[in-house]
This record gives sequence, structure tokens and C-alpha cells, in this order.
Amino acid sequence: MTTLTVLGIETSCDETAAAVVRRSADGRVTVLSSIIASQIAEHAPYGGVVPEIAARAHVESIDGIVARSLTEAGLGWSDLSGVAATAGPGLVGGVMVGLSFGKAAALARDLPLIAVNHLEGHALSARLADDIPYPFLLLLVSGGHCQLLEVAGVGACRRLGSTIDDAAGEAFDKIAKSMGLGYPGGPALERLAEGGNPERFPLPRALLGREGFDFSFSGLKTAAARAAEGLTADTDRRDLAASVQFAIARQLAERTQRAMAAYAEAHDGRDLRFVVAGGVAANMAVRTRLEQACATHGFSFHAPPLKYCTDNAAMIALAGAERLALGLVDGMDAPARPRWPLDAAAASANPTHVPGRKGAKA
Ligand code: KG4
Ligand code: ZN
Repeated sequence: MTTLTVLGIETSCDETAAAVVRRSADGRVTVLSSIIASQIAEHAPYGGVVPEIAARAHVESIDGIVARSLTEAGLGWSDLSGVAATAGPGLVGGVMVGLSFGKAAALARDLPLIAVNHLEGHALSARLADDIPYPFLLLLVSGGHCQLLEVAGVGACRRLGSTIDDAAGEAFDKIAKSMGLGYPGGPALERLAEGGNPERFPLPRALLGREGFDFSFSGLKTAAARAAEGLTADTDRRDLAASVQFAIARQLAERTQRAMAAYAEAHDGRDLRFVVAGGVAANMAVRTRLEQACATHGFSFHAPPLKYCTDNAAMIALAGAERLALGLVDGMDAPARPRWPLDAAAASANPTHVPGRKGAKA
């Protein structure tokens, strides 16, 4: 195996991102550049991501962002070993922009194309900064996804459970919206929660003690929205934000702990590594709670650096490099997929998992 230098392109939601990642023969990873152009300002007036605006913004900026990622890495096209682009799941208009750009670049420069599953990018993101061997237990928590997976390697993820309604990030965003906070709601709610009393508002504990490893946040969302009605005093709002954050972190930890016990038993107490990834992994209350769960169950705790929790292209480039190292490349006919479950077998065996309005992305 040789050293691989891969350009990653990410356009599945509201950030246009490009990055160059180098993976040495012994698996060491260096991020040579990671450029992220956020469209937050364009979507903010609408309180959420507008797909048409997102696709257009990707078209306008993708050229410049890719050029910057190469300049910042100090490399030219001829230094690359491959081009990796997110091919789904996500807003398909945006995915098509990045994937088409990746295909054109690969064709023009005679480089292999790797069509990357965005979720696999998140799944591997902690490996950008930390040498975490396979297998590991993964909690993937973002705006569109909330699932527990056993990750045995590239392309080898087994889903243990997922949300039966909203994703955790979606719950943060919707509750933040009902409290009149800006978009995206997660970081805004975390800021408001600072110094608040997390035990002030009792909120529902969905699925507590229930079999399996699924999640549910819709009851919590409704209860929080009701509690928010007519709440104007700063201290009250701070306490509600802290209570919401506490309740979300508590459920994530409770369900994860069940999965930890099952994973430990299945692995005879070996390979006890836990990774949390995705935008919600940036939340400190969530991280702290999961670190405690790891301590209780004897797992090591890993999370990507904050800048690689939310959407970025470095994780796409890394997934591309790991695939390329195994000879897993794609043709020019690779489709853009609005839905693309990481564990296709689990998704088709249990189609009742239809998270949120976005459908069965997970
Ligand atoms: O991974 P990501 O950037 O995009 C998806 O693939 O969905 O995750 C975005 C989600 C949003 O719902 C956002 O509110 C949430 O992650 N998020 C947070 C925090 N930072 C981002 N939620 C809670 N606390 C945060 N600090
Ligand atoms: Zn994401």
C-alpha cells in the first residue's frame, strides 16, 4: 500500500466543503486542508435549509472552494491519487452538484472517483485525529440521523438501532425554533443553556428501559414546545434550554449504555471502543454524559475534534482514501442518492424507521 492523497468534496446539505487528506501506507492521516463555506446566512431568514437555495449556492461556490483546498494544501491536481465526493444521502440537488464536479475532475485529470456515503464520512471522522482501530461502537448523531452502529471497517457497518421519529439534531433545531432561537438551533440552545438549571423542567424519558437500541424525541419536542409557551424571563428560558439539553443527552446515554452492554457481551469484553460523531457530538453536555457512560462500561471514549463533528469534506476525503486503499472505486455512472442507508440490510428489514420529514435517510 502506498501513500494516498485524496481530494474530498461535500455538498449534501448547507455547507460547500472541499479538503485534501493524506493517508500514509501505515494508516497515518494528515489533513492538508479543509475549507468549509457555510450557507447559514442564506437560509437563516427561512428558519431552515431551503433545498433550491442550497443547490444554487453550491453551484456558485464549488469551483472556488476546491481551488482553495488545493492551494492551501500546496498541491496541484497531479499530486492527487483520487477524488472523493459525497453521493448521498442528503438534499439531492446539492449532492448532484458536488458529485458531478467530482466526476468531471476525475475524468479530466484521469483520477479514480470514489462515491462516498456521507454517513460513512461521519462514521470515520474520529479517525481524522485519532488512530482508532476497527471494530468500534458508533453513535451517529446529526441533523438528519440518530443511530447506533457497530463499525467493523469500511463498508461494514451493522445498525443496532435508530430513531423512530426525529433525529437528535432535528429535536435540538425544532425546540430551539419553538423558543425563538436562531438557525441552526443546536449551538444556539447550547449557548442559552449555559448556567441554567437542567432539573427545573421535568421532560419525558422516551423508551426508558425498553428493549432494543432505538431512540425517540417527538414527545420531548412537544413537551418542550408547550413549556416554552409564554416563557419570557431570561432565567426561565435558560432553565428550559438546560432541561432540554439534559433530557436529550440523558436519552442518548441511556440507549447507548444498553448498546454498550450488548456489544461488550458479543465481543467477549474486547474491542471496547466508543465513538460519537455528527453535529450533535459538538455538544458538551452530550459528550460529558457519554464519557460517563464509557467510564461505567469500560469503553474508551473518542470523538472527532469539534471542527470535524459538523459537516466537512475532510471526513469525505478520508473515507475516500480508505476505500481507495482497498481498491473500492466507482464509475462515472455512480448515482446521486437522496436516501442511502449505511446498513442496507437493516434498513430494508425494518422499514418502520422513518426519521422525521426527511424520510428513511437513515
Ligand atoms: O452533522 P451535521 O453538520 O449535519 C447533518 O449531517 O445533519 O449536523 C447538524 C446538526 C444540526 O441539527 C445542529 O443543530 C446540530 O447538529 N448541532 C448541535 C451542536 N452543533 C451542531 N446540536 C447541539 N449542540 C451543538 N453544539
Ligand atoms: Zn452530516
